[in-house]
Amino acid sequence: MPATSREIHLTSRPNGMPVESDFAVVETSVPDAAEGEIQVQNLYLSIDPAMRPRLSVGQELNEAMGGGAIGRVVQSRNPKFKEGDLVQHRWSFREYLNSDGSGMAKMDVDPTLPLTVYMHVLGGSGFVAYGGLLEIGKLQNGEQVFVSTAAGAVGSVAVQVAKLKGCYVIGSTGSDEKVRWLRDDLGLDAVINYKTDPIHKALKSAAPNGIDVYFDNVGGDHLDAALPRMNTLGRIPVCGMISAYNNFGSISAPVTRLSNIIYSRVMLRGFVATDFLHLREQFDAEMTGWLKTGQMKYEETVYEGIENAPSALIGLLNGLNTGKMMVKLGA
Ligand SMILES: NC(=O)c1ccc[n+]([C@@H]2O[C@H](COP(=O)([O-])OP(=O)(O)OC[C@H]3O[C@@H](n4cnc5c(N)ncnc54)[C@H](OP(=O)(O)O)[C@@H]3O)[C@@H](O)[C@H]2O)c1
Repeated sequence: MPATSREIHLTSRPNGMPVESDFAVVETSVPDAAEGEIQVQNLYLSIDPAMRPRLSVGQELNEAMGGGAIGRVVQSRNPKFKEGDLVQHRWSFREYLNSDGSGMAKMDVDPTLPLTVYMHVLGGSGFVAYGGLLEIGKLQNGEQVFVSTAAGAVGSVAVQVAKLKGCYVIGSTGSDEKVRWLRDDLGLDAVINYKTDPIHKALKSAAPNGIDVYFDNVGGDHLDAALPRMNTLGRIPVCGMISAYNNFGSISAPVTRLSNIIYSRVMLRGFVATDFLHLREQFDAEMTGWLKTGQMKYEETVYEGIENAPSALIGLLNGLNTGKMMVKLGA
């Protein structure tokens, strides 16, 4: 059993985009699990946009960073767990940890599926995409849908759910390679590279019949571009506002067209996964089915080793991921 574990500490608060020197790799000693405890080896760390705001407020300096992880129980002196159990928890950015078991959710995995899908398509990213579109966005078959960060973990599930519901789907993303994946492999009807085609103009031509549902992951310029395109009684489920995360909550570009929600009677609503927990069983069944039939595709961008966790987070904020960004520590 390991006597040491490496973990990532935040050592200074970033000003704008984080840089490698804001973080440090720290070696700690991990004792054997005490009576009532388990020892967990982290296998995969989830890298999420929401980690960025916490670097400004919430994440303590000089402590191991938190976040979603999948781990395996390697020692158990707690009757609720046995060695080999897979668990999901929020103590990522470290190789090993001891726990009394609280906050450790035992995983019930389908052995015919890769473990990592429980971190994205069948995990939180897939669930917010599904519930955000169907429950908050009240998506109807055949509608006009726009999804921003369409090639990311949440966005790539949202666009495929909308396609499966027979919708006309527009996606925006930040590279030509991701444009190709969305258009050629996922079958989107229109894809915008917002870095080369200014979003306001590009969205106008990509949405000739307007937009019924805008699944917003970006805020700022993307929200501003979508507002005048919204059809009467359109819905904007607001999942995230990544354009604001490096600026401590200030949007990167002003939203000037909010008054459009009045005459078009547009509903704009933020949400979190706990808003639609009643959909969880339906989601698990439907999404597992789509995965197994190949109707739901996915990509993963995997960095290896705890020392590369800060680069993975910086990479995510710079759009270097296609699909889910994660760090692999073990198998
Ligand atoms: N409400 C909830 O409960 C909940 C849960 C999970 C996630 N979220 C939100 O969902 C969104 C997507 O999360 P995710 O985990 O799937 O991440 P992701 O889309 O896999 O990765 C983030 C992507 O955002 C794009 N991006 C970065 N800065 C941008 C900017 N200024 N303008 C436009 N795009 C930018 C980058 O791709 P490109 O630039 O190449 O497109 C990057 O790859 C985030 O806003 C996140 O906060 C919300």
